[in-house]
Formats: sequence, structure tokens, C-alpha cells
Amino acid sequence: MPVPPSEQDVTIRLVVNDRAHQLDVDAGEVLLGTLRDRLGLTGPKEACWEGECGACTVLVDGGPVASCILAAGSTNGRTVRTVEGLAGRGELTTLQQAFVRHAAVQCGYCTPGVLMVLTALLDEVPDPTEADIRRALAGNICRCTGYQQVVEAALEAAGAVQS
Ligand code: FES
Ligand code: FES
Repeated sequence: MPVPPSEQDVTIRLVVNDRAHQLDVDAGEVLLGTLRDRLGLTGPKEACWEGECGACTVLVDGGPVASCILAAGSTNGRTVRTVEGLAGRGELTTLQQAFVRHAAVQCGYCTPGVLMVLTALLDEVPDPTEADIRRALAGNICRCTGYQQVVEAALEAAGAVQS
């Protein structure tokens, strides 16, 4: 017999990576938990849980947000994209291909969040400067790359048509 939702549960309908979902979420649940624990999307990473490191970044209605501090209930009616949703039909985006070419991934823990903020930047500013790219990355901590390869990859992707 189904367990009735508690008074604090909220029913949300959202589209994640082009798939529609209806979910009962707890009032205190954050989007990062919903994505990882309910939908099996473990691309967004758990790290600080304070909105400070960028590892959990996803796009909500096209804009980058820290999913560890966003109430899942607030995503009702919205569109979410995670790193799993970047490569359509298995083909990497131009940005992802540039990351591979420039060895912009080392341990990879920051990479999903970094890809999402740069995807949003390139959608909004097709021809960003290096300063634009570094500004966009200001909320994403990477302990491995020193950012240089990441910036070079983004500049190369900006010069090509986004897939
Ligand atoms: Fe969300 Fe660090 S885990 S910003
Ligand atoms: Fe390791 Fe960025 S590649 S933290």
C-alpha cells in the first residue's frame, strides 16, 4: 500500500536532461540530493554543501546554480540540465572535446561543474574573452589544473560552432 506523502512533502514536476519527472520531495531536500539519490545522476558532485565550491553546479532554466543549496521544491516547472545531459546521443559537445584535447581534466572532481558554468557562458556570450572565462569560473574550485588548460579549452570552443 503506498505511503501517503507527509505534510512536508512537495510534489514537483520538472524536466531533467529532456526527460519529464514527477517527484514527491521533502521540504528540506536540496536539488543535488534529488538528482543523485532519486534520479541516479551522479555527475553533479558533493563537496562543500555550502554553495562555495561549484562542484555541484547544474543549469536551471539555462543558468548555473549550486544545486547543494537550491531547494528541490523550488524547481517545480523548471528545466534542469546536468553534465550527463550535455552530450546528445553520445557525442561530446565542442567544449567537452576541447577539454579532452587540452587535458583540462585531471582528477575530474570539479569538471562537471566547470563544464556547466562554461556551457552557460558560451550560450550567453559566444565569443568570450579570457577575462570573461576566468570571471565565470570564479565560483568553481579546481585543485589540480591551475585553470590554464580549462581556460584554453574554453577559448578554443568559443572559436568553434557549439554542438
Ligand atoms: Fe555545492 Fe560545493 S557542493 S557548491
Ligand atoms: Fe581535480 Fe579540478 S581536475 S579538482
